[in-house]
Amino acid sequence: MTNIDQETKEKLINGAIEARKKSYSPYSRYPVGAAVIAGSGKMYTGCNIENSSFGLTNCAERTAIFKAVSEGEKRILAIAIAAKASAPCGACRQVLSEFAAAEIPVILVNLDDKKGTKEIQELTLGQLLPFSFNQEDAGLC
Ligand code: THU
Repeated sequence: MTNIDQETKEKLINGAIEARKKSYSPYSRYPVGAAVIAGSGKMYTGCNIENSSFGLTNCAERTAIFKAVSEGEKRILAIAIAAKASAPCGACRQVLSEFAAAEIPVILVNLDDKKGTKEIQELTLGQLLPFSFNQEDAGLC
């Protein structure tokens, strides 16, 4: 796992929790927040944004990643995700793998709003997305 310091981890965790408060999720009522640290050292946050045409929903992780990349970032060094059950969906794992090494920490922040509890788990992207599609092997880069 790539090392990031404790202060940065806490900043990411709080960033994801705060971003979750901005969630637009009137259909599922399932708020999700995410925060990434990009190559420049800057943090970008995002929330899930739903649509009445359900398939157009954007997950919190992709909102944060796309915000970073649209600001010129090319590398994601760590991500935190805050939700009731915060393991990222398959699509977000794949999108993250475009910009992040297998070793980066993925910090899962599982929140129980009723109990007011917070459980933190730390994995790597490689653990969450083993045997991933490899652009180099495919001759795409
Ligand atoms: N969601 C995310 O934001 N991230 C994930 O990794 C899984 C699901 C959102 C999409 C939808 O707005 C809500 O959670 C319920 O699926």
